[in-house]
Amino acid sequence: LNNGLALTPPMGWLSWERYRCETDCKAFPDSCINENLYKAMADRMAADGYKEAGYEYVHVDDCWAAQQRDANGKLQADPQRFPSGMQALADYLHERGLKLGIYTDIGYATCEKLPGTEFFMQSDANTFAEWGVDLVKTDGCNAEPKEMDVSYPVFGFYLNKTGRPMVYCCSWAAAQVVHGIQPNYASVREHCNVWRNYDDVQDSWDSVTNILKFYGENKQNFANFSGPGGFSDPDQLLLGDYGLSIYQQKAQFGMWAMLASPLFMSVDLRTIDPKAKAILLNKNVIAINQDPLGAQGIMLYGLPESLSVWRKPLAVPGSYAIAFLNQDNQGRAMPFEIHLGDIGLTNANGYNVTDVFDNLPRGQFKPTSSLGVLIDPTCIVILKAVPL
Ligand code: GLA
Repeated sequence: LNNGLALTPPMGWLSWERYRCETDCKAFPDSCINENLYKAMADRMAADGYKEAGYEYVHVDDCWAAQQRDANGKLQADPQRFPSGMQALADYLHERGLKLGIYTDIGYATCEKLPGTEFFMQSDANTFAEWGVDLVKTDGCNAEPKEMDVSYPVFGFYLNKTGRPMVYCCSWAAAQVVHGIQPNYASVREHCNVWRNYDDVQDSWDSVTNILKFYGENKQNFANFSGPGGFSDPDQLLLGDYGLSIYQQKAQFGMWAMLASPLFMSVDLRTIDPKAKAILLNKNVIAINQDPLGAQGIMLYGLPESLSVWRKPLAVPGSYAIAFLNQDNQGRAMPFEIHLGDIGLTNANGYNVTDVFDNLPRGQFKPTSSLGVLIDPTCIVILKAVPL
């Protein structure tokens, strides 16, 4: 969507994967969906280096809303859990240089059965603008997938009409894929800044590899539609949560960088493991993700269940990020050798090659010289190659 927003993949924090729909704040005061949770995460983002690294959206996912709209049909936040209201939360974030994301649904109800936007498009768009919202994630539950070719553009029209810049995230393609409908990605890209196109991520390596298989297969070349203003969204990061080893966390982060994915953490930033934090703050990997060309990396070859090679063109002409993803579970690091020429890097003068995670120079390589990497089990190596 050419609305001047999301020129690089949006970065931030999103509550769903880690906090779900917990609304019992008596039993779970520190992990229920209420204004304190988002304020606490905003404080950590502002104080602990996340904001400087580029994470700026604090996204309130499903279960923020009251069961009913107000007497005038206006959406309202749950009064017990958000006593200060959404506008106050937006102010709190803006004062810290952060931005507010909010969740709604294109159908009559959200996935958790709270009020949806279906018959309230103009009014909800105006409400979000009035509150100072900066990003709207619009889910696709309780709606007819075929109608989304019209309903998502219409809601986008009303968001735009408010005059407030709001990043528009759509689950249009995902809802259609799940129902066996081939999404019209050109139209999705024209109308949305970010689009989910596959299943929800769960806290496991299986879930991550399953998503990567979908992206590796790249059916109908959906990767071609990524670029400034519009990005495919393979869903949230699991770093610092329960399900991935530190190697697998590195692999997820590296692959999300290769795919030019939005980078939304979903983790308790108050207690996060320092190793996970260090990966999330890795400047060089973030720079691959935020490269201004905005290209989504593609899988060149390999088997999703063993070793695969991925390539992402970068803005500096002729330069690339190359990822080696080792999904083999043999208990030793896997040695692998390539010639840059075999993966389309044919500049006769050769390339300057750096290891991205460690920011270590690997030296100069001709298209015909052999280049070796060693990839830990269920982990990744990313190289950057810049033409000489
Ligand atoms: C869907 C979305 C998730 C989350 C939940 C909330 O499953 O894909 O990201 O927003 O709904 O109910």
